[in-house]
Amino acid sequence: MKGLILAGGSGTRLYPTTQVITKQLLPIYDKPLIMYPLSVLMIAGIREILLIVTKRDIDRFKQLLENGSFLGMKIDYIIQQEPNGLAEAFILGKDFIKNSTSCLILGDNIFYGQGFREILKECSSLDYRGGAVTFAYPVKDPKRFGVVEFDKNYNVLSIEEKPTKPKSNFALTGLYFYDNNVCNIAKNIKPSNRGELEITDINLEYLKNKQLKTKVLGRGFTWLDAGTPESMLEASNFVSIIENKQNYKIACLEEIAYYNGWIDEKALIKRIDKINKSEYGQYLASIIEDKNIHYKKKLK
Ligand code: TTP
Repeated sequence: MKGLILAGGSGTRLYPTTQVITKQLLPIYDKPLIMYPLSVLMIAGIREILLIVTKRDIDRFKQLLENGSFLGMKIDYIIQQEPNGLAEAFILGKDFIKNSTSCLILGDNIFYGQGFREILKECSSLDYRGGAVTFAYPVKDPKRFGVVEFDKNYNVLSIEEKPTKPKSNFALTGLYFYDNNVCNIAKNIKPSNRGELEITDINLEYLKNKQLKTKVLGRGFTWLDAGTPESMLEASNFVSIIENKQNYKIACLEEIAYYNGWIDEKALIKRIDKINKSEYGQYLASIIEDKNIHYKKKLK
């Protein structure tokens, strides 16, 4: 399975900040926002990633993530010329995906909750089943999102993009798993009234073919979409509380790569040497010192 991260867009809700830098490189507490969605793909076991970015910001993303080899990964970059909509990921990403299955995550989405690793692992074995998997999360303001309506057995009845009268309070999150048909579907969809190629139209096609599954992320799970000053602050506060209470980091990429067996201790030490002045670097050092042995055992 291959991973795609949509990290383009215009970030108009964060002007004037995003007039000079893209939102996905702004910090959420102790690390750039992009590291959170990237960590989700890594936890799913996805090692080959395509980062979809703007022309203005591509070099800055490369400065941060390079070609991924320091994480034992392969990270490629492609420019999206205009923010033409989320579904364009599968037009731009066609040559990258080739005949593989894929997982798309939005560059400003943060997921956190117990049991997520198991859910992700199950979805990344889609290769054997086909179809699409999306995730629903109850929200207070469904009008801002793609809204999913369920029957009593949690089968999807409908999906509507930013409805004026939402049929439920379940929003679809920015995480999607697809079989290889997604590129064909994306090629054939038309821009919506707001001029965007909508991911909802891709999902509706899977729904029509009875190939769409939507899993509900329930109580105890956190999904944050950091697109406004308020939600960025909220996300930073959330991460700081979790990290300082438990002394586990969220989205510590090197830690995940190490426990995935993608980098060895030598590579980790090299990385620590580069960033050891920061609290993030010192946390990495504590992994080597085996302070987090409990976590290590849990992942085995
Ligand atoms: P949005 O938050 O919907 O859009 P945006 O980032 O441009 O922000 P604003 O609404 O404030 O103008 O985008 C969700 C994510 O998808 C975000 O990480 C940016 C990314 N994106 C693209 O990469 N390409 C696109 O064409 C669009 C619409 C979004």
